[in-house]
Amino acid sequence: MVGRYDVIVLGAGAAGMMCAIRAGQRGRSVAVLDHAAAPGEKIRISGGGRCNFTNIHAGPKNFLSANPHFAKSALARFTPRDFLAMVERHGIAWHEKTLGQLFCDNSAKDIIRMLTDEMRAAGAQLLLRTETSGVEQIDSGYRISTSEGTFEAPSLVVATGGKSIPKMGASGFAYRIAEQFGLPLVETRPGLVPLTLDPQLLQRLAPLSGIAAPAEIRHGKTAFREALLFTHRGLSGPAILQISSYWREGEEITVAIEPDVDVFALLKKAKQANGRQSAQTALAELLPKRLAQHFVEAEGVSGNLADQSDKRLEQLAAAIQSWPVKPSGSEGYRTAEVTLGGIDTSCLDSRTMQVKAAPGLFFIGECVDVTGWLGGYNFQWAWASGHVAGEAA
Ligand code: FDA
Repeated sequence: MVGRYDVIVLGAGAAGMMCAIRAGQRGRSVAVLDHAAAPGEKIRISGGGRCNFTNIHAGPKNFLSANPHFAKSALARFTPRDFLAMVERHGIAWHEKTLGQLFCDNSAKDIIRMLTDEMRAAGAQLLLRTETSGVEQIDSGYRISTSEGTFEAPSLVVATGGKSIPKMGASGFAYRIAEQFGLPLVETRPGLVPLTLDPQLLQRLAPLSGIAAPAEIRHGKTAFREALLFTHRGLSGPAILQISSYWREGEEITVAIEPDVDVFALLKKAKQANGRQSAQTALAELLPKRLAQHFVEAEGVSGNLADQSDKRLEQLAAAIQSWPVKPSGSEGYRTAEVTLGGIDTSCLDSRTMQVKAAPGLFFIGECVDVTGWLGGYNFQWAWASGHVAGEAA
């Protein structure tokens, strides 16, 4: 028996569920197929279990893509306010944490429940534990072969996400379908991922593992001011995750710790006020003790502040505030929050996410070459691209 629908959505993640809701609301018969045992598994673990479900400031400038203009249309047609209105309609309590990032007060499961309730209300069917083995184009649209039988629909929406966190079912399946249909791909890479350091540097920084500090991390013209975290593998924290999406193997980043403070001025002032204190003691007013000790030792500064020339203090400040670091790599898809690159947007209509050369075939969410910063932007892209595809499929 063949299951016939108006729209088949592959993937019950953020983008797929949103698309199914909108298509169902338009009166289309919709089935959402997923190989997982539960929908929205990434939503469940997102934002430390509280789901940073959108960013109130989300705009095209917060996304990386070979075509920075592509995301404009979908983002304008389904905004963070639109998603927030849905959250409020469902009585889900939320709060702004920082920098426009909106989180659930209670649990990310509230968002999954909201989406599955909306799907049910829109008449969309959810078919879990359904393994897709192949997709083919037929006269009436698309035929999907699965472990649970064959499905056919004039519209097929691919929302199977990227490659990040394979342990959670990420399969790279969308790229294989794209290849099958001869669509161009932008090379994929792990994004929003901790960076690793070579063993020598790692050994020197080992005592700092677990320390966090406010920092500005720069790569070329791009810079992020958020927390930096030293780990036993290298560098992490929001500032590093953000810059990791811009960094490439072999390149350098520049770390400025406590970027809002003029460390040289602080050291000079401390020297004037009390020349008998050590540089480490003066720095420990600003930095965690172990971090202060690390920089003082690394720069070979010994003795009292009064013994140090201004030049020497300037060098110490520079070590803290313009520290060049060459990461050896990243932790890869195992821990990356997103996949950079993906389906080349040149083959998609930005208003609908439909493949220009294959009517009825759509790609949405993370599998497309649109990747957001850390901070709720990636879910906003999933909602927006899902919504516009649901309007057209
Ligand atoms: P998503 O990956 O969500 O869904 C894809 C679905 O397709 C899955 O249900 C999967 O099982 C299914 N699937 C895959 N292959 C299949 C196949 N062959 N057949 C059938 N089904 C298949 N973003 C954000 O904005 N705020 C946040 O707080 C976080 N936090 C966060 C934490 C962690 C740990 C990670 C890994 C990621 C985040 N993100 C995030 C990123 C966010 O989770 C991501 O951008 C979206 O989930 C992407 O939504 P999609 O629907 O495109 O893919």
